Parts: sequence; C-alpha cells; structure tokens
Amino acid sequence: MTQDELKTLVGRAALDYVQAGSIVGVGTGSTVDKFIDALGEALKTDPKRVVGAVSSSVRSTQRLEALGIPVLPAETVTELGVYIDGADEIDHGGNMIKGGGAALTREKIVADLARQFVCIADESKLVQALGKFPLPVEVIPMAAAQVIRAFAKLGGEGKVREGCTTDNGNVIVDVTGLQITEPARFESDINQIPGVVTVGVFARNKASVCLLGTSQGVKTLKF
Ligand code: A5P
Repeated sequence: MTQDELKTLVGRAALDYVQAGSIVGVGTGSTVDKFIDALGEALKTDPKRVVGAVSSSVRSTQRLEALGIPVLPAETVTELGVYIDGADEIDHGGNMIKGGGAALTREKIVADLARQFVCIADESKLVQALGKFPLPVEVIPMAAAQVIRAFAKLGGEGKVREGCTTDNGNVIVDVTGLQITEPARFESDINQIPGVVTVGVFARNKASVCLLGTSQGVKTLKF
C-alpha cells in the first residue's frame, strides 16, 4: 500500500470516533485532508453525521466549508468530544511532534478543548524517541535569533523556516539535533523561553488513541 492509501485508510477509520450529530475538532495536514474527505462521503448519506467543526487552520476551514460543514470559532465552544489530527512523529506513549504544516498553535488550542485526541498517521510516524523530525517551534519574529541561541545551549540547531508565516503572523523555527526522551518536561521547559509561542511537542495534549496505517491494516494504539 502507498503512503497515500494508508492515510486514506486511517482517515476513514477516524470516523468511528466521531459521535453522530456532534461538533468535531479537526486538525491540519495531508492525513486530516483524508479524514475530511471521509466526512464528506458520510454526509452524503447522513447529512447530520456532524453538525459542525472547530478547525485548527485556514486550510482545514476552507475544506470543511466547501463540504457545507459549519466551522465554529474555538472561543464559542467549551468542550469537544474528539479532536482528530495527524502527527510528524508519535512515540509509544502517545507523545507527538507536530507543526510540520505550521499550524501547531491552533492545533494545541483545539486539542486542549477535546476530551480525546485521536491521532491518525501512517506507520512511518511511529518512533522510539521524538526528535528525528525537526522540531517546529512557533516564535514571535523579534525573538527568533534569541530562541535559536537558547536551543543551541540544549544541543539543537535552529533555523527559521523560509517563506513561512503562521496563521498568527509569527515565524517557525525548526530545530534539529534534539533527542526528546522526557517530552512532558521538555515541553514545559521550552515554554519558558521568552518569545516562544508554542513548541511542537504535544505531551500535555498527547494522543489518547493512535490509528496507525500499516500494510496489514489499521492498528489501534491506546495510551
Ligand atoms: C500540521 O501543523 C501538523 O501538525 C500536521 O498534523 C503534521 O505535520 C502531519 O501532517 P501530515 O498528515 O501531512 O503528515
């Protein structure tokens, strides 16, 4: 099976976690695009399959609205049953690196509204320890050089992502050379660096379920 087919598989499987008639939290990325496609298919036979969504990016909002799904502002919602999103890496404890698509801040905000985070990913994303994928960090532009120096002290090499401005008007610093063995502590330490808006480690908001696309089918990991 191709990576694209694996993404389609898990995008469809995620529908089982969405309660009929609910408002669903929707992440960002090529795997989530497959979930949105699956939602579109389901709505053809059941127009009330979902009644709305809270989206983590302009990109997902446009796709949801094209299907006629009302997208509600996060600030009008107090709780979501489930948030569906992809990951750049996920470890065996459900901790993730996210932000490859630069939407990490809104992703963390919407994930935090949800009782359950269902991660959808192909098997290439499952790792022993987080850090091989360059860690995205959303940073206020004036602090970028300072944040890069702070990461250098931790053994990481940071670079501002070229041509990328986030939906919030900030820059992304991608950091290589890190081995994140204690994700929760790491997330909280990086959050203390002035100018850091969001670090792409999701430990506090880790996945409760991961639907992993494998050549043998969908494997369900629970954390
Ligand atoms: C977006 O900012 C990211 O967090 C994505 O969820 C992550 O990059 C996974 O994307 P793909 O599904 O495209 O691999």
